[in-house]
Amino acid sequence: MTARIIKRAAALGVIAAMGAGAALADYDDDELVIDGVKIATKVPAPPGHPLPEIVSGWRFRSDETQALEADDFENPAMVAVDYGQSLWDAVDGEAGKSCASCHGDVEESMKGVRAGYPKWNEKAGRPFTLENQINACRTENMKAEPWKWESREMLAMTALVGKQARGYPMKIQKDGPMAEWIEKGKELYYTRFGQLDLACSNCHEDNYGKMIRADHLSQGHINGFPTYRFKWQGLGSLHRRFKGCMENIRAEPFKRGSDEFVALEAYLAVRGEGLGIETPAVRN
Ligand code: HEC
Ligand code: HEC
Repeated sequence: MTARIIKRAAALGVIAAMGAGAALADYDDDELVIDGVKIATKVPAPPGHPLPEIVSGWRFRSDETQALEADDFENPAMVAVDYGQSLWDAVDGEAGKSCASCHGDVEESMKGVRAGYPKWNEKAGRPFTLENQINACRTENMKAEPWKWESREMLAMTALVGKQARGYPMKIQKDGPMAEWIEKGKELYYTRFGQLDLACSNCHEDNYGKMIRADHLSQGHINGFPTYRFKWQGLGSLHRRFKGCMENIRAEPFKRGSDEFVALEAYLAVRGEGLGIETPAVRN
């Protein structure tokens, strides 16, 4: 083992040693208001929910990081949102269309949309993430090349579309064909992976509020993606974050867009139901 792995394992030992007792409710009471819109960062958990209350990762961040997200002029992700707007208006592909040709003003047509994803797509016979839907529009409606999951274009467009749902409570379809995907995501969430033999729940359910090395563990919600991270020096997708968490426990990560990550995303949308969309969020 390299020194780095030993160090990491030792850090994990620290949180493991604290045991699976009651998690510390160690997050602050600040309220998030962006541009006059109040965003729900803490909502009551419905009966039977594994968490006592549902709390956004924003509440676990330092005041400085929180302030960056709360002010669009300071939020470093806004450059990408502006780029997304230029892509929205740009004609691309053999059909000679832009997103705007069909959808018009993004602020009108995409209002609240992000909060309902992943969403069942009848034609594809599977849930669509926002990335899947955007690429379906590109390939089928525009006759253009699909964008890569983590490309600058896809991040900019998901940030732009996501922002139009800011403040809308996450709420996806749970019944019908979505049910088994959500169930599969739940199963994955509680499965131990990797050399460190940890499940998502071991950190984000059993130990949120605690420090893991220099990082303050949150409940691991998905309401801010794509998210700007200092560590990434830019925006990253939700599936990149999933991958990072799996790599940290020395597991072979699933691929972006894989059935496993789509299922996890669907489960986490349900797990965090009611939290306001923060896209594009800012995290460390
Ligand atoms: C030729 C017309 C056309 C173009 C061009 C087009 N779309 Fe669409 N889009 C549609 C239609 C029709 C739907 C709804 C039905 C479907 O295809 O699922 C849709 C649905 C969507 C949705 C889902 C909305 C919801 O309520 O769930 C998103 C997001 C979206 N488009 C984004 C885009 C983006 C981003 C672009 C440009 C990259 C784009 N579309 C280009 C026709 C278009
Ligand atoms: C070893 C502990 C650990 C495990 C196991 C772990 N994570 Fe994380 N995760 C972190 C840390 C640390 C962060 C960054 C601080 C925070 O928001 O919790 C994080 C952040 C996240 C975030 C971003 C939260 C936000 O508000 O931006 C999501 C989503 C997430 N994790 C999902 C998962 C999923 C899904 C799994 C299982 C595949 C998982 N994590 C496993 C430690 C872990």
